[in-house]
Amino acid sequence: MKDNKIPAHVAIICDGNGRWATNQGLPRWKGHEQGFKNAKEITKYAFNNGVKYLSLYLFSTENFKRPKKEVDYIMSLLVDKLKDILDFCHENKIRAVVSGKDENLSSKIISILRKIEDETKEYENIFNMCFNYGSKAEIIDAARKYALDYKENAEELTEEKFNSYLYQNLPPVDLLIRTSGEQRISNFMLWQCAYCEFYFTNTLFPDFNGEEFDKAIDAFNNRDRRYGGLNNENKNN
Ligand code: IPE
Ligand code: IPE
Ligand code: MG
Repeated sequence: MKDNKIPAHVAIICDGNGRWATNQGLPRWKGHEQGFKNAKEITKYAFNNGVKYLSLYLFSTENFKRPKKEVDYIMSLLVDKLKDILDFCHENKIRAVVSGKDENLSSKIISILRKIEDETKEYENIFNMCFNYGSKAEIIDAARKYALDYKENAEELTEEKFNSYLYQNLPPVDLLIRTSGEQRISNFMLWQCAYCEFYFTNTLFPDFNGEEFDKAIDAFNNRDRRYGGLNNENKNN
């Protein structure tokens, strides 16, 4: 990966935990446990290799449609692993921020998320935990906040300013990875992904390791990002 250009902001739709477990004859919750372990591994790997911002889609607003037992298990992972998450962030000097709604989360989970953010805010590399996240809801929430905060003519709203009303004011996503073979965005970072490169892999998230991450970076390096303009070869034609 040495000669490759590293995307500053990588986002991953961490999908396939359930299928990973089912494939091994295990209950789905084992897949979430394994997914949690892998989220730490891949976060460490990404930052060690020069990524500055990593957004992981860990639980969507729509995931509340799942059986209560599964939702409860995912929530309990966060409670049980709080110390583990904090130690991990400190060891690796990672700042964790949360994107998502507090609505429908228990007060215990909300206070855990705030604690993680609070205790890691001195660090530079940003791990954006998308938890109870939905992109349409984020855009609506940003529009509402802007309207409430309204101090100027609506025409003065710029893209940059609007970005600052999102859950986190981060630079745009450069590379979006989705594991597990699905090729859809499932309400993830619609605004932030306006010009990102997509990379889809059949690998299930618990198996998405450093080697798989490198393949995504290689693919990214073979893309020609034009942003609507022309590439160098065609500029003078
Ligand atoms: C992703 O894995 C984790 C969450 C959505 C919480 P899934 O649980 O969606 O795994 P599959 O897609 O059923 O295999
Ligand atoms: C997207 O995965 C959400 C997360 C990975 C957290 P889903 O498994 O919920 O997405 P769909 O339902 O297949 O679109
Ligand atoms: Mg899924």
